[in-house]
Amino acid sequence: MSSPLVVLGATGSIGRQALDVAARLGVEVAALAARRGSDQLLELARMFADAAVVAVAPTGDEREKLSAELGERVGFGADLMEELASRPGRTVINGVVGAAGLRASVAALEAGNRLALANKESLVAGGPVVLDALRRGGGTLLPVDSEHSALFQCLVGESSGAVRRLILTASGGPFRGYSVDRLEEVTPGQALAHPTWNMGRRITVDSATLFNKGLEVIEAHYLFGIPYDDIDVVVHPQSIVHSLVEFVDGSLKAHIGEPDMRVPIQYAVTYPERLDGGFEPFDLTRHTLTFEAPDRQAFRALDLAYQAGRIGRSAPAVLNAADEVAVHAFLEGRLGFLGIAEVVERTLDHVPVVDLHSVEDVVAVDQEARGVARSLLGGAC
Ligand SMILES: NC(=O)c1ccc[n+]([C@@H]2O[C@H](COP(=O)([O-])OP(=O)(O)OC[C@H]3O[C@@H](n4cnc5c(N)ncnc54)[C@H](OP(=O)(O)O)[C@@H]3O)[C@@H](O)[C@H]2O)c1
Repeated sequence: MSSPLVVLGATGSIGRQALDVAARLGVEVAALAARRGSDQLLELARMFADAAVVAVAPTGDEREKLSAELGERVGFGADLMEELASRPGRTVINGVVGAAGLRASVAALEAGNRLALANKESLVAGGPVVLDALRRGGGTLLPVDSEHSALFQCLVGESSGAVRRLILTASGGPFRGYSVDRLEEVTPGQALAHPTWNMGRRITVDSATLFNKGLEVIEAHYLFGIPYDDIDVVVHPQSIVHSLVEFVDGSLKAHIGEPDMRVPIQYAVTYPERLDGGFEPFDLTRHTLTFEAPDRQAFRALDLAYQAGRIGRSAPAVLNAADEVAVHAFLEGRLGFLGIAEVVERTLDHVPVVDLHSVEDVVAVDQEARGVARSLLGGAC
C-alpha cells in the first residue's frame, strides 16, 4: 500500500480525482495544497481533517478565514508547498498547473519521495533539472498523464533496445477537422468544451490547439529517453487507446480503457501493485476505434513543440511559458485562437537558448519568455 499522500493542486481536476482515489483505496492524505485560499480548499480541509493545508497565494481575507478555522494546520506560500513535497516517506501527487509546479517536483525527488507527476510542465520546462534531482535524490518518478502512464505500462518488462517508437494518441479536441479559416473564428467557450476529457482550463485549450500533445511529446522524451524522431502522434477521437509502443519485431502494445484519469492516478500511487479501484469492467463491444494523422498545418502548435524539443536546452521552457501567457490572453478574449501558436513561435524566435543547470535557471528563462510573450501581446497581460 502507498505511503501517505501529499496532493498539490488539490482543488483542481487532477487533485480532486487523486483525493477520490485516496478515499477508494483508504490511503492517508497527509497534506493538501492549492494556489488560492478558496472555499473549495476549505471544504477539502474539512473533509481531510488530519491533513496539513497550504495556500500558496491567498488574499488577505482568505488567509484570515483559513487561519481562523484551521489554526496551525494551515500555512501559506510556495516555500511551504515545496516543504510539504520534501517531507520524507511521502507519495507526492503534483496536480499543479503550469511551470509553478516545478519546484515541488524537484523537492519531492531530491527527498527520495515517489512523485506521481501530472504537472507535465515540470518536465517540459525543467526536464534536465528534474532528471538530475531524480538521480541525486533516488526518488521514483511515475507519470500520471494518461498517455505516459499507458506508455510506461506498455514498457514494463521491455528493454529499451526493443523499442522502435512511441505513439501518443490525441483526441483531436473540439476542432478536429476544422480548416484554418474556421479556426480563425473559434471562441474560448468552444475551446473549453472538450469532447472526451473534463480538465482544467489551460490543458483544455491546449488540447484544442494540439499544444498539449506537443508538451506530451517533450514529456515522453524526458521520461523514457526516446529521441524525438521516434515519438509519433496519431489522432484517436474516442480516447480509448491511451497510447502505444511499437517494438523492433513489429509488435505493438496498446493500453486501452475508459478515459478516466483516476485509473492512471491510482496506478502511479500503487505501482508496482495493481489494486481493485472499483471501476466498471470495460466493454469492448461498445466501441469502434478510429485513427488518423493530425492536421499539422491547421494545428501548428504540435510542430512548434517538436521544434523546441529538438533544440532542447531552454527552448521547451520558453515554449511552455509563452503558451501559458497566450492561453491566458485567449481566455480573456485578447487574442484569437490562431494567435496562440503565433505568440509561441515569435517568443521562441526572440529568447536566446541557454543551458539549464538549476531551478533558478528555469525560473529565469520562464520569466524572460513570459515578458517577451506579454510584450508581443502589447503588454496588456
Ligand atoms: N485534468 C486532467 O485530466 C489532466 C490530465 C493529464 C494531465 N494533466 C495535467 O495536470 C496538471 C493540472 O491540471 P488540471 O486540469 O487539474 O488543472 P486545474 O483543474 O486548473 O487545477 C490546477 C490546480 O493547481 C493549483 N495551482 C495553480 N497555480 C498554482 C500555484 N502557483 N501554486 C500552487 N498551486 C497552484 C490550483 O489551485 P486554485 O484552485 O487555488 O487555483 C488547482 O488546484 C496540468 O499540468 C495538466 O497538464 C491534467
